[in-house]
Amino acid sequence: MASSEPGQRELEALLQETRRFPPDPTFARTANARDPAIYEWARRDPEGYWAEQARRLAWFRPFEQVLRWEEPHAQWFLGGQLNAAYNCVDRHAEGERRNKAAIIWEGEPGDQRILTYGQLQREVARCANGLKRLGVRAGDRVTIYMGMIPQLPIAMLACARIGAVHSVVFGGFSAEALRDRINDARSEVVLTADGGWRRGSVVPLKAQVDLALEGAPSVKHVVVVRRVGEAAGARFSPGRDRDWEEWLAAESAVCDPEPMDSEAPLFILYTSGTTGKPKGIVHSTGGYLTGVETTCRLVFDLKERDVYWCAADIGWVTGHSYVVYGPLANGATVVMYEGAPDFPDRGRNWQIIERYGVNIFYTAPTAIRAHMRWGPEWPARYDLSSLRLLGSVGEPINPEAWMWYWEHIGGKRTPIVDTWWQTETGAIMIAPLPGLTETKPGSATRPLPGIEAEVVDQQGRPVPPGAGGFLVLTRPWPSMLRTIWGDDRRYRETYWSRFPGRYFTGDGARRDEDGYFWLLGRVDDVINVSGHRIGTMEVESALVDHPAVAEAAVIGRHDDLKGQAIAAFVTLKEGVAVEDGLKEALRRHVAGKIGAIARPDDVFFAAELPKTRSGKIMRRLLRDIAEGRALGDTTTLADPAVVEALKAQYQEEA
Ligand code: PRX
Repeated sequence: MASSEPGQRELEALLQETRRFPPDPTFARTANARDPAIYEWARRDPEGYWAEQARRLAWFRPFEQVLRWEEPHAQWFLGGQLNAAYNCVDRHAEGERRNKAAIIWEGEPGDQRILTYGQLQREVARCANGLKRLGVRAGDRVTIYMGMIPQLPIAMLACARIGAVHSVVFGGFSAEALRDRINDARSEVVLTADGGWRRGSVVPLKAQVDLALEGAPSVKHVVVVRRVGEAAGARFSPGRDRDWEEWLAAESAVCDPEPMDSEAPLFILYTSGTTGKPKGIVHSTGGYLTGVETTCRLVFDLKERDVYWCAADIGWVTGHSYVVYGPLANGATVVMYEGAPDFPDRGRNWQIIERYGVNIFYTAPTAIRAHMRWGPEWPARYDLSSLRLLGSVGEPINPEAWMWYWEHIGGKRTPIVDTWWQTETGAIMIAPLPGLTETKPGSATRPLPGIEAEVVDQQGRPVPPGAGGFLVLTRPWPSMLRTIWGDDRRYRETYWSRFPGRYFTGDGARRDEDGYFWLLGRVDDVINVSGHRIGTMEVESALVDHPAVAEAAVIGRHDDLKGQAIAAFVTLKEGVAVEDGLKEALRRHVAGKIGAIARPDDVFFAAELPKTRSGKIMRRLLRDIAEGRALGDTTTLADPAVVEALKAQYQEEA
């Protein structure tokens, strides 16, 4: 794996941050985590700590052993049996929360639907019965490809109810990306919608499914929610496709939840890595649910009366853990919004917060920076006084964005929790406990109780305070990924071979004198665009698939709004002329192969790419060029003149 040291420039800027925000005493008095001894307890007795968290869930059969660690495989809560849907829905519906709003859904065009826990229970049961009728059994994989509509969490929970493993594919992925994921998981059932709404236009979903299924022979059944209607132009293939409402019309609203072993897989979620093929991250039932229930309760300080809104799409891990499983396991009221933050205007988020009296709001730095650009007059038009906690996730938050969020959204009242974690970690790993931790703008602060992290150098030795290095996690935790679907070797190699005995995150970090962690971005060939992970190799494969392209090297360069932007250096096949529309054609080609999120921001035609004598492209130097830095070490290059020429050309064209 290619790794580079984290950028010195970022390090230096962060070292100058001196602002401190101690917890507000009033907040601290009633916080869910208010006793600082929690850290010491978890450090001394991590298994005891996690066992106590796990016991907050409803178990059909109690666990007998907390952890079995056979490196690099962990099993948590052995002997225990539970059901995730029972924990997220039934236990609330059967108790005091029956008529409490579980999901407050707002469609982009302004339509609304509120589902109480009682209603959610019936919907989930009906869908579970429908899945059974299609022949889905415990352990089978079901692919779900939808926008942000209530049927998405219903479908996920219906799978969980019968022990089927869901694989949610973000609705912005292309047909080809969807096909790869269906094939890797070998799903027989796909649940989708005719389309979704985005900025007033229809995003076709069923049409993408049709294309995907041209090369996905495992699929026998497709069920389609009619979200958009005629405008989606969805076609139904008789025998294979059916309408969601008709499918469930006759189904009973009662379905017993399947008792599942704690280690039974709950879901697969694909994420980008350093090769061209996305990895199917596998999460377990008991450990995952323990991780998300605990972090929601402690980091977001979730209380019975809160209205909670995580603005992430459920197609990403943040949506899985903090729109669906974490808050519902806590019996919370969750806001879910279908559309874009700037439609019909740039006040949309704040309008929703005012309308539903949202108390806790969780979003990504890239969104905060977009709001900064649009100006504080937008949030100023709305009453945001219901907010009592703000969260950030997905990428490092720059101190300016942190301060803006605190001032203009939080009214200088609310704590901010910057939460570091990954698809693989399942739940938040490094973040403040808002009633206990003094925050510093730009730092995710300290590992949560029960989590241990370190910053190490190339050789795996801990680095001194202030120095940059690689972030590793040093002990197993309940919500950790269990493996990569169908590829356990890759699991070992990616996460456990670089620093034996420790989990390698792929991130650079620095720890300061107080033990606070400052995240510095990826150190592998993964780009983080607007908080979304994209593999450079995926984009490169998509580019070389175009008939004009001979070779491509893709890097992430700094971008003020998106965190990173995608820059592609491309050499063309002999005889191909650089025509006007070619850059745009290549961008479109990548969007078609992967999805709009992977569309390169810059396409740069190069005569040659800088390579080592063994033929490896030196992406580090391309990053230097794209970010306008002095070139790093070029001594290993086969031909140093190539990179100098490229630099001159880039400066001229950019
Ligand atoms: O680089 C880190 C960054 O996002 C990566 C994980 O991406 P993904 O699996 O898609 O999950 C995103 C949402 C959890 C990490 O390796 N990242 C995530 N949160 C932060 C972050 N970087 C800095 N600060 C964060 N709070």
